[in-house]
Amino acid sequence: MSSQAQTRRVTAQDIRQRKSGEPIVSLTAYTAPMAAIVDEFADFILVGDSLGMVVYGFDSTVPVTLEMMILHGQAVMCSTRKALVVVDLPFGSYEESREQALRNAARVLKETGCGAVKLEGGVRMAETVRFLVERGIPVMGHVGLTPQAVNVLGGFKAQGRSKAEWPAILADAEAVAQAGAFSLVVEAVSEPLAAEITRRVDVPTIGIGASVTCDGQILVLDDMLGLTGRVPKFVKTYGNLAEAVRNAVSAYADEVKARQFPSESHVYSLKPE
Ligand code: KIV
Repeated sequence: MSSQAQTRRVTAQDIRQRKSGEPIVSLTAYTAPMAAIVDEFADFILVGDSLGMVVYGFDSTVPVTLEMMILHGQAVMCSTRKALVVVDLPFGSYEESREQALRNAARVLKETGCGAVKLEGGVRMAETVRFLVERGIPVMGHVGLTPQAVNVLGGFKAQGRSKAEWPAILADAEAVAQAGAFSLVVEAVSEPLAAEITRRVDVPTIGIGASVTCDGQILVLDDMLGLTGRVPKFVKTYGNLAEAVRNAVSAYADEVKARQFPSESHVYSLKPE
């Protein structure tokens, strides 16, 4: 058997079984070249609707469309072989009814070939999560800060800062897990609350700004690479790609102006990898 044939993609079930095990590594990716790199290291890749902000420059994820998610999902699936690919259902594509959610989630699975979808919301979305899972669509939940609700929340704020807010957030996490989600993103909650959610639900929790107590972690790739201007306080940057790009573009501009551009560059041929 070739080594390629031996590599199979991680499935939603594989992630589900990682509760309390080795920490789950995940990142977002939106394009084929970046996803190919992330695929070497991540258990799952999220084609997050954060692409609306980091790729398209919108102020929030609200304007993102299903068509955008499908195109980026296809790009990420094209260049990856190993990681589970999860595609976000964007705002307005699943909240109206269980039937709307099924129709759009099925489109995402069919047209991208991804292995699961993610949707935001707790108790109010539990019935929809159950409806999708019972019909063959693996669903990842997302509780705590739910960015698609930014206009109701009044900003991208940490959730559960007062203990009085905890019961509602815990109920959200439990409802989505009990409805059959294979995993839960827990965003922007304090360490003790994240620990309590992780203890109460029997599926892996994936933290973003929610402490090391979760079963795994996710970050927005462009944030951790130093490509986005303003990043949330909890994000550690592991590189400064904006600086690297600026230096490269500046060197190129200088060479063009000085007519130093390599003379053979007019011959169009691909360099070997
Ligand atoms: O859209 C996204 O990138 C996300 C992560 C922040 C978890 O939902």
